[in-house]
Amino acid sequence: MDKVERHLRAAAAHATQPLCAYVYDLEALHRHSEAVVAALPQGCELFYAIKANSDLPILQTLAPRVAGFEVSSGGELAWAREHFATTALIFSGPGKTDTELQLALDSDIDAIHVESLHELRRLSWLAKASGKCVPILLRVNLPMPGLIVTPLMMGGKPTPFGIAADQLPACFESLQSAPNLRLRGFHFHLLSHQLDATAHVDLIATCLDQVAHWCEAYGLDIDHVNVGGGIGVNYRQPQQQFDLVAFGEGLRRLRESQPDMPRLRFECGRYITAACGYYAMEVLDIKHAFGGAFLVARGGTHHFRTPYAQNHSHPFHILPVERWPYPWPRPELHDAVVNVVGQLCTPKDLLAFDARVDRVRAGDLLVFPYAGAYAWHISHHDFLRHPHPQNWYLPMEHANAANE
Ligand SMILES: Cc1ncc(COP(=O)(O)O)c(C=O)c1O
Repeated sequence: MDKVERHLRAAAAHATQPLCAYVYDLEALHRHSEAVVAALPQGCELFYAIKANSDLPILQTLAPRVAGFEVSSGGELAWAREHFATTALIFSGPGKTDTELQLALDSDIDAIHVESLHELRRLSWLAKASGKCVPILLRVNLPMPGLIVTPLMMGGKPTPFGIAADQLPACFESLQSAPNLRLRGFHFHLLSHQLDATAHVDLIATCLDQVAHWCEAYGLDIDHVNVGGGIGVNYRQPQQQFDLVAFGEGLRRLRESQPDMPRLRFECGRYITAACGYYAMEVLDIKHAFGGAFLVARGGTHHFRTPYAQNHSHPFHILPVERWPYPWPRPELHDAVVNVVGQLCTPKDLLAFDARVDRVRAGDLLVFPYAGAYAWHISHHDFLRHPHPQNWYLPMEHANAANE
């Protein structure tokens, strides 16, 4: 954070326009990704779900540390292959078109995660026409009685994601007459925003039990199980984050109790990149209405939609900026409760609410941490045609860190 602050202070001192920027700390990303990989026991591998943030410097930092990238569209697949010719790619997502499936067939893909019987048939048909054999996983939606529920559930209830478990027999039957498809395993991405390490291990154990049952019942020979992403970031209480060490230990115990456990593959997004990114906005104005105080800042949810998407008040801190070009006193507040809004003409352009601040002045910077995942990449950038924020990728301070 110190590095990010230093960079922002220097930029604010020279800014000719109100400042608005994303800042990414690539060294922090490097360290965090290494810590995640190190925490996973043997027999586990980490892919990065690039939908969380597919900026090139982010991917370049991660490519040497992760087992590969998970892509969820033809666009992501083409982007990843264009820049990473040899990185392992896995292809997920509902509603894949024939063109996207063909692109995957032509892109030396590690595995395609099949989402329905119809998709399975189309892929078999395309693979046969191309004379190729494709490694696949079946993505499954499972009932999960008694397991934790998070704010974003992709499985365990009616959703369009994956194949409902009761439809698997039809898929196995179809695979009998699909020599161009090779079933390598099963895929589960049942939820996001998981903050409880023990519950996550339990969820994985439940998936593995199911897989063992299918393998036995249908005589399947698989080589791995992809347990998706889903590890969350605690935006509301940033001091209490997912317990990575406990998670690693839980997985280790699970592995010890099941010596025949297949290889586990993770495809995490949010947990990998959220913490390396910061969104900074300059306070343009301070307003009061009906007892409420509003900091109106440069930018808004068209850049940083995360708080609106997750329905939370995003934590932020204030970076004092001494430059004040006007010949009248600065608007300022002391020991106040504020709402942070952007420049959009909608009351939904709200980034933080009921937040207590010691002191804030027009011209100060508001810095939102945990803005490196599902932030810029899920936002409606051109609403109102405001300028896009600047993007700064702070490089690694030690040159050899990049090559370790
Ligand atoms: C199939 C799939 N895999 C992985 C992810 C990454 O999830 P997360 O960012 O919660 O780790 C997603 C997110 O939606 C997904 O749909």
